[in-house]
Amino acid sequence: MNLRFEPSGPLTGELTAPADKAISHRAALLGAMASYPLRIENYLRAADTISTLEAVRALGALVEVRPEEVVVRGTGLREARVPDGPIDVGNAGTLLRLLPGWLAAQEGRTFTLDGDESIRRRPVDRVIEPLALMGATLQAREGRYPPLVVNGAHLHSISYTLPVASAQVKSCVLLAALAADGASTVTEPERSRDHTERMLLSAGARIHRNGRSVTVTNTDELVLEQVRVPGDPSSAAFMIAAGVLVGGSRLLIRDVGVNWTRSGFLRILMRMKGIVLGDLEDETGELIAHEPVSDLDVAAGGLEGTFVGPEEVPLAIDELPLVALLGCFAEGETVVRGAHELRLKESDRITTVVDGLRGLGAEIEATDDGFAVTGTGRLRGGVLDAHGDHRLAMLGAVAGLASREGVEVRGIEVAAVSYPGFVEDLERLAR
Ligand code: S3P
Repeated sequence: MNLRFEPSGPLTGELTAPADKAISHRAALLGAMASYPLRIENYLRAADTISTLEAVRALGALVEVRPEEVVVRGTGLREARVPDGPIDVGNAGTLLRLLPGWLAAQEGRTFTLDGDESIRRRPVDRVIEPLALMGATLQAREGRYPPLVVNGAHLHSISYTLPVASAQVKSCVLLAALAADGASTVTEPERSRDHTERMLLSAGARIHRNGRSVTVTNTDELVLEQVRVPGDPSSAAFMIAAGVLVGGSRLLIRDVGVNWTRSGFLRILMRMKGIVLGDLEDETGELIAHEPVSDLDVAAGGLEGTFVGPEEVPLAIDELPLVALLGCFAEGETVVRGAHELRLKESDRITTVVDGLRGLGAEIEATDDGFAVTGTGRLRGGVLDAHGDHRLAMLGAVAGLASREGVEVRGIEVAAVSYPGFVEDLERLAR
């Protein structure tokens, strides 16, 4: 479906951010691995996280979707059932990378994971390597892409250094380590989101962080009875950007997750002199179980260009397309480096963002691992193809509101992968 987003008057009013996708995936998975029923409040009901409910159901968990909560009754750590056919992960990269961690520990059982056309281009060698070192056997197309076959085994503990900062790979190894023999340590080159660690701590696992290393001790069971999913900072970021860019806007966004490992975008925006006020979490020394939330006040105002380097990239990875858009309106240059991982997302987000924004009149250049934008203070508008990528579709919509001539987004329906109701929410605030 194609939809036009016209230049907008001020955005005003309140919005409750939709539920966090990353935390919803983890809640469903840990619920399936746990020994007692888990009640999940505010579970995200979007295409990606429904794929996770279907997957755990196929693996033997009982899933009850009620109006006010989702209840998952798990099979326990080592008792996943072999489904009749391949597990369909749909478009969900997080499910594709996390689930093999649990499945690798199912001794003597074989599972196949497959998904849509985009998922078949997402690399899985990054999880094959550590899981194989732990003792499982895995096969993928060309050794790298789905379908992915996981042959479960008795797993050995591991000390593993990730070649790239990836919360998905870190989480995969941590889930596998729960059922291995002994304590395992994962070290990342840069800090990435720590939702898995926090939820495992809530579930009684012995887990601690030391700098960029996380150590988890094997266990017989996870005990997690209740989780409340906070609002998704990555979804809220689109509304925040719209509020900052469209002149005269004032927004209140409620219930936004402000875990330090997810709020890189807000810190970048503040450095760009964007007006956003809230109670952000500081980087804490010790691993804590809860997920902090805050209401955020957003107001339109002038922006300055900034530099985003490799250590900040994982903390804002899904919001970097918005940094490119903000850069178009900022004074001076905005440069992102060390973000090669963007090429491996739902689309090659360096190419699709740079080509997409350039097609709307932006002065932006791609580099191998990022982009450089020269701010002109305005954007002409035109047509932007979502390339089947939810975050690109939402980027085009926000660009349209801030542009001079409007933007037609081709394939807007893909926004429902993470944010059902995105268009309605945006239109309500812009009315
Ligand atoms: C995610 C981690 C990130 C992010 C993705 C969700 C997660 O991916 O881009 O949208 O839930 O752990 P990588 O771990 O590949 O960087």
